[in-house]
Amino acid sequence: MAIDSLQLAKKSLDQLGYLDISHTKDIDFEQEFIKLKKSKDAVLLAHYYQEPRIQELADFLGDSLYLAQAAARVKSKVIVFAGVHFMAETAKIINPGKKVLLPDLKAGCSLAESCPPEEFAKFKAQYPDAIVVTYINCTAEIKALSDIVCTSSNAQRVIESIDKNQRIIFAPDKNLGKYLIKHLNRPMILWEGACVVHEAFSFEKIVKLFNKYPNAKFIAHPESESPVLDIAHYIGSTSGLLKFVQTDQSKQFIVATESGILHQMQKVCPDKEFIPAPVEDDSCACSQCAYMKLNTVQKLYNCLKFELPEIYLEPELIDRAKAPIERMLALG
Ligand code: 13P
Ligand code: SF4
Repeated sequence: MAIDSLQLAKKSLDQLGYLDISHTKDIDFEQEFIKLKKSKDAVLLAHYYQEPRIQELADFLGDSLYLAQAAARVKSKVIVFAGVHFMAETAKIINPGKKVLLPDLKAGCSLAESCPPEEFAKFKAQYPDAIVVTYINCTAEIKALSDIVCTSSNAQRVIESIDKNQRIIFAPDKNLGKYLIKHLNRPMILWEGACVVHEAFSFEKIVKLFNKYPNAKFIAHPESESPVLDIAHYIGSTSGLLKFVQTDQSKQFIVATESGILHQMQKVCPDKEFIPAPVEDDSCACSQCAYMKLNTVQKLYNCLKFELPEIYLEPELIDRAKAPIERMLALG
């Protein structure tokens, strides 16, 4: 994670008592967080991969595109971002006048980490005539090296907005990139990054699961690997997957994305069954994003109480990273 781009407040967390949680053991964190939000003029933005308790507290709950759009509209003074670092950074870039808090600074992203800015700048320099399209799961420094940003919800629209003869570099997710190349029949130069969660799904075990649930639909996020996507009945962003299960007539769905989304699926479709897609290694909870799951209700409370950790970015970096995000947002 680009810790360099962050500047924690001058007082250390220890000095502020942030890490001393002994006094908080009898607190109803949900209720206290709600009170703090009101008194501090704060809003909670949360991604679908957050634990259910956090999803239930959110003022804005959605996928990365929805959360970026929501961050641009926030009027409150403080944004608490229950997601990962690149999402909170994006909120700060779009709405720099707001104080943006991330409950746990270690909530990074394997995709963002797979694309270090210096290496990417050298890679980009090899293709001076190419336009750079970056998936929003990247650091502010990578966004600043881009022409336009996209999310899994609007990647197709973003690529289609670019002239057919224009060369494109797509970064950092090679799986989403390969999917777009195939789906849009459009060559692109790919950076070789990947998400640890979506690469953990097992093609063989998914096929076996089909035998157990022959009437189930298999749905997948486009960060999954090609063999997995090739057998999916539907491929889409988290909000796309959520819409699909509501409109499709099937009663059972095998879901290949982070398992946090199952909470919303079950909530909107209580009579349907949702089965998390199996992963290679049975001994790990690999369909959970360890970064997303670093956030807890207690950390939400602590971060708003002490207004730390805060996302800080140099104004010059904000300026450079903002334009490619705004180009995406302008496409709707
Ligand atoms: P969405 O754009 O579908 O919210 O996905 C974000 C993400 O991090 C997927 O791993
Ligand atoms: Fe990053 Fe993957 Fe976690 Fe999404 S699920 S935040 S891409 S590591």
